[in-house]
Amino acid sequence: MVTGGAGYIGSHTALALAEAGYRPIVYDNLSHGHRWAVQWGPLIEGDLSDGEKLVATIREFDISAVLHFASFIFVGESMTDPGKYFANNVGGTLSLLEAVRTTGVKHLVFSSTAATYGMPEIVPITEDAPKEPINTYGDSKLMAEKLLYWYDQIFAIRSVALRYFNAAGADAEGRIGEAHDPETHLIPLILDAVAGRRSHIGVYGTDYPTPDGTAIRDYIHVSDLAEAHVKALEYLIAGGASTAVNLGTGTGYSVEEVIASVERITARPVPKRYEARRPGDPPSLVANADRGAKLLDWKPRQSDIDTIVRSAWHWHQSRAHG
Ligand SMILES: NC(=O)c1ccc[n+]([C@@H]2O[C@H](COP(=O)([O-])OP(=O)(O)OC[C@H]3O[C@@H](n4cnc5c(N)ncnc54)[C@H](O)[C@@H]3O)[C@@H](O)[C@H]2O)c1
Repeated sequence: MVTGGAGYIGSHTALALAEAGYRPIVYDNLSHGHRWAVQWGPLIEGDLSDGEKLVATIREFDISAVLHFASFIFVGESMTDPGKYFANNVGGTLSLLEAVRTTGVKHLVFSSTAATYGMPEIVPITEDAPKEPINTYGDSKLMAEKLLYWYDQIFAIRSVALRYFNAAGADAEGRIGEAHDPETHLIPLILDAVAGRRSHIGVYGTDYPTPDGTAIRDYIHVSDLAEAHVKALEYLIAGGASTAVNLGTGTGYSVEEVIASVERITARPVPKRYEARRPGDPPSLVANADRGAKLLDWKPRQSDIDTIVRSAWHWHQSRAHG
């Protein structure tokens, strides 16, 4: 069962699961997901808070494992409406864990985030680094990780929390891609600016202690993320212990480098405007990706920046008329 499987990363993972021979059952309330993104198995329309529906779905489809993507994802909104984030991301995960416990499912893969680390002191960031989130979104995911810990201790439900860095790109064949509303992610915003759907892209902060002064992030192709989920699932099925794993490449790109990549791929200039730093934006967030390589035998294959941007541009253009 793929909760949030009508969303961006969940739908790419449903595709990867289908290609690996599984049958993904998507459970999504379509609050932010899309019916068109569910192509590799049935869509059950339901909310995480509906424990009875979760139990009925798990029983009806004889679910053997859960991949849990469903959550709210907007950092800014999480600081103006924190209750919404704690209710859905923590309360929703608790409701799901209760359904999992009731039905005897033993394996769960969870979408966590680099936002659990807050402002890291040491970069690249290892999984054992201090976790001090600086927004309620990040803390809601950390609290969900805590729930996973206790449901493992008490009920032997094994889980892998995958802490994604910056998910980007789209399916290489253009079947699905990123379609958030509102869009807050850098690459689709730059592509909107290139395509004339936004006047410009704001570059927030040019005085960071980085080579070109703009902030550095670790971009990971969504199809690489999807593959890591299949590997994490198989790690659990093989008897692996509960753990948390960073999903990043170990290489960071600055905002200026991403813009340069978009200009290379689209052969168009990116209209940009330099702005002040935004509060709470760390200079650099880059994963130490060793644990994923060792434990899951996973390596990103499509995550060099030009490959990411090319797939995102292809998807962006195919949706140019809606
Ligand atoms: N996109 C990123 O860069 C990124 C980075 C780190 C972590 N994550 C995590 O990955 C997961 C997926 O992110 P995404 O970018 O695909 O987001 P998304 O918004 O595209 O997908 C989330 C899906 O969950 C569904 N959903 C939300 N609340 C629900 C509920 N109560 N019941 C049922 N369905 C519900 C939405 O309808 C949507 O389809 C999230 O948990 C997010 O926190 C994303």
